[in-house]
Amino acid sequence: MNKKIRWKVASLLLSTLSFPSCLQAISLQEDNIDQIIREMTLEEKVALLNGTGMEGENDGPTVGNVNTNDVDGSAGTTHAIPRLGIPAIVLADGPAGLRISPTRAGSEDTFYATAFPIASSIASSWDTKLAETVGQAIGNEGREYGVDLILAPALNLHKYPLAGRNFEYYSEDPLISGYMAGSLVKGIQSEGVGSTIKHFVANNHEWNRGKMDVQLDESVLRALYLKGFEIAVMHSDPWAVMSSYNKVNGEYTSESSWLLEEVLRGEWGFSGIVMTDWYAGANPVSQVIAGNDLLMPGQGWQIQAITGAAAGGAIPQALLDRNVKRVLQLIVKTPTFKQLTRSQKPDLKQHAQVARSAAADGMVLLENANNTLPLSSKVTSKLALFGNASYDFISGGNGSGDVSEAYTVSLEEGLSAKGYTLESSLASEYKTYVKEEKAKLPERHGIEAMMPEPKIAELVLSDKQINDAAKQAGAAIITLSRYSGEFVDRRAKEFPLTDNEKALLKQVAGAFHALDKPVVVVLNVGGVIETASLNQYADAVLLAWLPGQEAGHAVTDILNGNVNPSAKLTTTFARSLDSYPGAKQFPGVISDPEAKPDIMGTLPASIHYTDAMNVGYRFFSQHPEASVYPFGYGLSYTSFAATDFMVRAVDSGLITAKVKITNTGDKAGRHVVQLYAAGDSVPGTGIALAGFAKTAMLKPAQSEVVEIRLLASEFLSHLPSTGSLQIHLADHSEKITESKTIKF
Ligand code: BGC
Repeated sequence: MNKKIRWKVASLLLSTLSFPSCLQAISLQEDNIDQIIREMTLEEKVALLNGTGMEGENDGPTVGNVNTNDVDGSAGTTHAIPRLGIPAIVLADGPAGLRISPTRAGSEDTFYATAFPIASSIASSWDTKLAETVGQAIGNEGREYGVDLILAPALNLHKYPLAGRNFEYYSEDPLISGYMAGSLVKGIQSEGVGSTIKHFVANNHEWNRGKMDVQLDESVLRALYLKGFEIAVMHSDPWAVMSSYNKVNGEYTSESSWLLEEVLRGEWGFSGIVMTDWYAGANPVSQVIAGNDLLMPGQGWQIQAITGAAAGGAIPQALLDRNVKRVLQLIVKTPTFKQLTRSQKPDLKQHAQVARSAAADGMVLLENANNTLPLSSKVTSKLALFGNASYDFISGGNGSGDVSEAYTVSLEEGLSAKGYTLESSLASEYKTYVKEEKAKLPERHGIEAMMPEPKIAELVLSDKQINDAAKQAGAAIITLSRYSGEFVDRRAKEFPLTDNEKALLKQVAGAFHALDKPVVVVLNVGGVIETASLNQYADAVLLAWLPGQEAGHAVTDILNGNVNPSAKLTTTFARSLDSYPGAKQFPGVISDPEAKPDIMGTLPASIHYTDAMNVGYRFFSQHPEASVYPFGYGLSYTSFAATDFMVRAVDSGLITAKVKITNTGDKAGRHVVQLYAAGDSVPGTGIALAGFAKTAMLKPAQSEVVEIRLLASEFLSHLPSTGSLQIHLADHSEKITESKTIKF
């Protein structure tokens, strides 16, 4: 019997298994879960602990490829047990919007989802309300399309710029990651569907992720890598946690009862289910015992192993039942169980507006010499748009963080919609080039299609073309881009500007500056690239990230001043890759080259986090010469003054801070208040983000008194009983404006 048939037979058996003789009509309800468990056969219990999501054993990853009859393109389902009224619930990605197929066999209808900005962009808004609003829209699309549990948000740390999935993550700092992720969870769950925080824990890069052993001190694990999860769990009560692919200190996270039972559940009080990442871990029996309730996507050999171990007593019945109970407790909360109707028609128009304003609120203005932006009416007569991505803007990343959106607005379309005239000969040359070059790329299938798209080289223009454009247009806009995706890390050569990009910047800056016309650079990237040289060429630099489907409209909103930029970096843009302390260890070493690669082609490998607490601004604030744009940095079209800064320790665990923010410029805008802690109780040798808040929109001369509650457990290693703690008010992590000392 081939593997596929064996699996099908196993599934069939599950539906016809010999049931207890006392079979009676009992159906799952919120209040009869214990009774249902008593009724369940061993096979049914094991079935419930293993999801679906693949057709045959070891056919290869099928991420986002499941046709459930209900929601095509979801990531998987649980097993239904009809005789006990247990329905299959549907799980779908992901962090920037719902990942499902936009079409369904036999249906003329479409099921597009909204592509929101990537998590790094959402975090850059420093606006938890915004994250909640985006979460609500994602949750609503899930709810209306029939998804029960959304596999988002993802909150691993930006430890090193080349990590392939940084775009799906929020920050190099756990506090802002935890608050942003928690807000997304609240938004998603306000729609009555569940949220899954992932990847728990220390899955900070992709290389050999399935067998990577991350070695680090428990104190660092707790202060950095676990902290964001802890904050998100505490503040938002997610329905699920996804354990990660990797090991931590020799043990797969999905097999670690210390992580899952002691820390997550015992210490933090998490009460939802833990599921594996897709195909993660090695030993299903250990996973069950460790409290990893659901194995995804669930494979025949895992079912056999668990059944055997449970029958033979290697998995105590109490532990098996504990996991089954958690899965049932999840199921009874879902829309599928409650048989709620699905409209199949979420309000995509309204969600597009949410995506547009979220995108603009996440864009960080890095440079703005001589108030180049917003574009003055003087230069708006005609614009010259350079860079392939200006005409083919990248909305998001590939892989499970991808979204099947109906459209992406290019920058060309966004500017045109606002009445800008664009240099047409450039436009047609670029569009033809991009179309022709993309057509030459080989088609990508399966796992390859989930990796970053291959990038076509920047179009090379002649000096004449650029000089002509400079004569015609009032300003130049150059978009530089990078793709991001799952399964692989970015290559080192993707960090610096390419030769074509450098040549383009140089030519355009030469031609436009000679005529006293400004040059604006727009960065359409999912993570940090080299930026140190940009201000040689550009008068203004806007970090637009991968801003979702409304990209071009949102960039235009910033360029024309419709939106005053208020975003701040949540990750350091450093001078070089070598500047990051993590560079020395990245990506790790293969520990057994002879081993058989796993289903994802990965080999046993390990990485030692010898950079300890020296991640991101914790390091760069001590070495400012190494950063170009620090954590917390971002410009505005207006200015703010902070006065009346006060800090008070309510008790050793709670500190309150107050500051009055006044808009001292001539445009309405929002300001991010950033508070950092320093002192012996701060882990590491530097500072730690202790709290933040964003003002409302303040008109010129308008003030707001901002109050922030700081919870010591979120940024200190221990509660100071004696001694002192400094709280800095800062414009960013390298610019402290005022400090207060609290004595204990
Ligand atoms: C990813 C997860 C995702 C899952 C299901 C995995 O490859 O690591 O983030 O939720 O696939 O699509």
